[in-house]
Amino acid sequence: MARLESGTLRPMNLGGQTALVTGASGGLGHAIARALAGRGAHVILTARRVDVLEALAQETGGRAVACDLTDRAAVAKLVEDAGPVDVLVANAALPASGGILSFSVEEVDRALDVNLRAPMVLARLIGEGMIERGGGHIVFVSSLSGKAATVGSSVYSATKFGLRGFAMGLREDLRPRGVGVSTVFPGFIRDAGMFHDAGTKLPPYVGTKKPEDVGAAVVRAIEHDKAEVDVAPIPLRLGAAITGLAPELAAMVQRRMGASDVASQMERGQREKR
Ligand SMILES: NC(=O)c1ccc[n+]([C@@H]2O[C@H](COP(=O)([O-])OP(=O)(O)OC[C@H]3O[C@@H](n4cnc5c(N)ncnc54)[C@H](OP(=O)(O)O)[C@@H]3O)[C@@H](O)[C@H]2O)c1
Repeated sequence: MARLESGTLRPMNLGGQTALVTGASGGLGHAIARALAGRGAHVILTARRVDVLEALAQETGGRAVACDLTDRAAVAKLVEDAGPVDVLVANAALPASGGILSFSVEEVDRALDVNLRAPMVLARLIGEGMIERGGGHIVFVSSLSGKAATVGSSVYSATKFGLRGFAMGLREDLRPRGVGVSTVFPGFIRDAGMFHDAGTKLPPYVGTKKPEDVGAAVVRAIEHDKAEVDVAPIPLRLGAAITGLAPELAAMVQRRMGASDVASQMERGQREKR
């Protein structure tokens, strides 16, 4: 992606670009891979479940590469196996929901490895090639939990807030080198993915979005070099913004609206993914 006089990056055309998508076997990873392939990108799909990846690779004309992101040597090998990458979408994550005392130290480490360390290391290793070639784009899939923490989200929010900080700084570091960096913040996503799989029932006033909305947001972030894109109904986005400005007020409102009931359901429904 070339730099314009103004310091902003030229819009990227995804046609013919090679895009590596982590967490491609999951609900949102499928939608992201389909959206990128739909714009003409060659997708490289990675996760641990290769059988799921192979089916998606056939559908999208892409390539599947198995990798366990908790394995440091495997992360380096993934970069080698992928070859030159124009677009990195760091999407893989564990839900890591629940109070801190319900986690073993090993589970905390796993959440940090998959949700934060792997995206940072992949950006470091793959970003180097982008800089050498004078262009590329890196997208981090965070969460509204990366802007507002709630009861039972401490471990998950730590990783997702961390991703936001990393991406904000990295964006400024890589801008002069012609490489774009974006962060996408989904709220509750229905039909597929970690929230859907948990079977959590939300209060009727809390809205959701579809996996395809996340795929479209990733494409928009890349094509228009957006710093941040939220994928949630306006009330949730406003709630996250207010939490940043007035955390005590926001926490009181969340308590009154029954956030702990939703959190307990999520912890039960997502425990097997730790
Ligand atoms: N769904 C939502 O409502 C929602 C809301 C906000 C943010 N998000 C974010 O959106 C992204 C995608 O989530 P999702 O809903 O699609 O979740 P998901 O369906 O649970 O998928 C998670 C993905 O991460 C991969 N993964 C987990 N552990 C891994 C490991 N050790 N090594 C390699 N890959 C690993 C899984 O692949 P394997 O199991 O095959 O390895 C899977 O592809 C995540 O960053 C999540 O935090 C989702």
